[in-house]
Amino acid sequence: MDVLFTSQMVGNVEIKNRFVHSATYEGMAGPDGSVTKNLIKRYHQLAQGEVGLIIPGFMYVHPLGRAYNAPMGIHSDNMIEGLDSLVKAVHEFDSKIFFQINHAGQQTRPEDIGQTPLAPSNSVRDPSYFFKPRQMDETEIKDAAKAFADAAERAVKAGADGIQVHCAHCYLINQFLSPFFNRRQDKWGGSSENRFSFLKQVIQSIQDRVPDDFCITVKLNTNDFTPKPGITPELAVEYAGMLKNLGVDMIEVSCGSSIFSYMNMCRGDVPVKELVQSMPLWKKPLAWFMIQSLKGKYNLNEGYNMAAARSIRPVIGDIPLALVGGMRTLDKMSQAITEQDADLISMSRPFIREPFLVKKFRENEKDKVSCVSCNRCLAAIPNGFPVHCYNKGFPRKA
Ligand SMILES: Cc1cc2nc3c(=O)[nH]c(=O)nc-3n(C[C@H](O)[C@H](O)[C@H](O)COP(=O)(O)O)c2cc1C
Repeated sequence: MDVLFTSQMVGNVEIKNRFVHSATYEGMAGPDGSVTKNLIKRYHQLAQGEVGLIIPGFMYVHPLGRAYNAPMGIHSDNMIEGLDSLVKAVHEFDSKIFFQINHAGQQTRPEDIGQTPLAPSNSVRDPSYFFKPRQMDETEIKDAAKAFADAAERAVKAGADGIQVHCAHCYLINQFLSPFFNRRQDKWGGSSENRFSFLKQVIQSIQDRVPDDFCITVKLNTNDFTPKPGITPELAVEYAGMLKNLGVDMIEVSCGSSIFSYMNMCRGDVPVKELVQSMPLWKKPLAWFMIQSLKGKYNLNEGYNMAAARSIRPVIGDIPLALVGGMRTLDKMSQAITEQDADLISMSRPFIREPFLVKKFRENEKDKVSCVSCNRCLAAIPNGFPVHCYNKGFPRKA
């Protein structure tokens, strides 16, 4: 286990141990996306709990890329002051913080952004809200790329140690990368190079705007698990090679999507009752039937993105790789580092239940997490509840 408490460089940033808090949407921001006291408390506690690198939940870079009830925003200069307080709270304990910057693309609801959501193509209908997105035109694509660069500059101003560009879970960048979502035949689609060109533009625009030593990292899907092939493990290897050529500082490997394959993203129990609770009355019977049919099919196998990490490893050379997805025991975590499958161990749900997990590991108080992957924390999102371990009970809708 000692190897987990050795430091790791990510670009020019030294992470004191190998533990990463994987981005976790909190549902705790102000109505305008601003940082609140509860958010500061959450990340202050995780830093106190000795997490080496903290990546808070995604922050939207553009008002049209906002998703869910109360996400953090980095879309305006007005957010910088609050973000600066968040950084200071984490730095009090020698932890590092990267902001995850995101545009939801079609994974948001028309009522949340006041218009039809945007996407690379208008072909994929949202399976739960039934709308078709609007295909982005050239100006909208350039605006979205610029919004990422503006956000990165704000992250620098707020004192963050780096950023993580969200290229996973089928949000906008993932939609461009995926042949399932991206059906374009212009310079933004039609081949893997073209589908990569939006991400390339995003990264290069960021590189032009931030200091040379500012850490630019990505979270990449290694399998979208969409009804027809999106990013497959083979395509992910190709994209990882392209990211290496762009000079990114770390890749975190993940899978799944929030609309088509949330159970791939968060393997474990299927919280049927809690998910159905979030639906309007007329949808409940069908939703119950469909969600119930998933039960037992996504049991948590520890380190479920490990095979993907192994295939990406050879193409990214010495770029640090963070492995997320069901890492639950110290043995497995140490093994992943010792056998060089990963450089960093990233977790989300375990930290919701135990913010002091890393400290407890270091003090030999335990050798596995207490999280049982009941996924009620995930079901809190559509219900509009803040992130919390709801294993002992789930609130009824107000
Ligand atoms: C409540 C909740 C919110 C999440 N929010 C985000 C997010 O904002 N950005 C992201 O990249 N992943 C998000 N995820 C996915 C996690 O970062 C992680 O990839 C996934 O939960 C698997 O890791 P785990 O088994 O350690 O939980 C979220 C997961 C949960 C349960």
